[in-house]
Amino acid sequence: MANPDDIIPRDIRFGILGNAQRHWLEDDIIKTVLIDGLSVFLPEGERFFIRSLKHYAAKMPDRQMAAEINGYAVQEAFHTREHEEYNRAMMSLGYDVEAMEKPIRFGFEVVKNPLHRLAITCAIEHMTATLSTLTLRHPDLLDKAAPAYRRLWMWHALEELEHKAVALDVLQAATPEMSRWQRYMLRVLGMNGTLLPFLVIFLRNVPIYARADGVKTGLRFWLRFIWVTLGYPGYWRRCLPNVLRYYLPGFDPRNSDDAELMRKGREWLANDMPPGSGAAPAGKAG
Ligand SMILES: [Fe+2]
Ligand SMILES: [Fe+2]
Repeated sequence: MANPDDIIPRDIRFGILGNAQRHWLEDDIIKTVLIDGLSVFLPEGERFFIRSLKHYAAKMPDRQMAAEINGYAVQEAFHTREHEEYNRAMMSLGYDVEAMEKPIRFGFEVVKNPLHRLAITCAIEHMTATLSTLTLRHPDLLDKAAPAYRRLWMWHALEELEHKAVALDVLQAATPEMSRWQRYMLRVLGMNGTLLPFLVIFLRNVPIYARADGVKTGLRFWLRFIWVTLGYPGYWRRCLPNVLRYYLPGFDPRNSDDAELMRKGREWLANDMPPGSGAAPAGKAG
């Protein structure tokens, strides 16, 4: 079980709306859409995750588990608030966030079974933890980002790492009657049901995003898109091995020791955020 003391919700406002910036990462539309495109998923996604876990919270007799779920929910609620503002900032720049969000909302709404919702939450938490590990291991990837955006993504990465095991802990506790293999199959189905729709929706949204910039998404655009994701810096290529680890029958997110990464992330946040922002260690809350 995760240590609830590691899950530290930080009530920080990043002021993205007041600092809205087009192509905020290296003035590069492809690098920026790869990250802005994730934010489009987040408010809907994070509300879905909170509901998925809270459904089981009341049934958990274990106080430590209840504390984990509570820390998780508070962190995700702050993330939702900041990503709603982030997405409003995108709208203020002319991006059609509503059109991009539509299939995402539909995708989350069609899943009604609480156990399926939980399995999907586990899968997405693994994907966000993977991206967060990449971000915290290579903060240089965001060196040239606009400061408000860089701070928000580093904060989000740190907290995703802190709570990465919570959903899987809940899955384990919520299915005592299942054998290891049944639970494994549920996990795999959750990941299969997540990965493909995520990729399809993400790629569908890229031209909607580019249209707002007056950029044509022709062959040249897509060849460079492939290069940036799979070649250099190769964001998706670097994530792939860890995403696939989820398919190992004995997968346990705690197998990789993230204590050092979390320490670095906390130090980075305390140093990079303006004083009084709530990012310092004293910012521990809820
Ligand atoms: Fe989050
Ligand atoms: Fe999360």
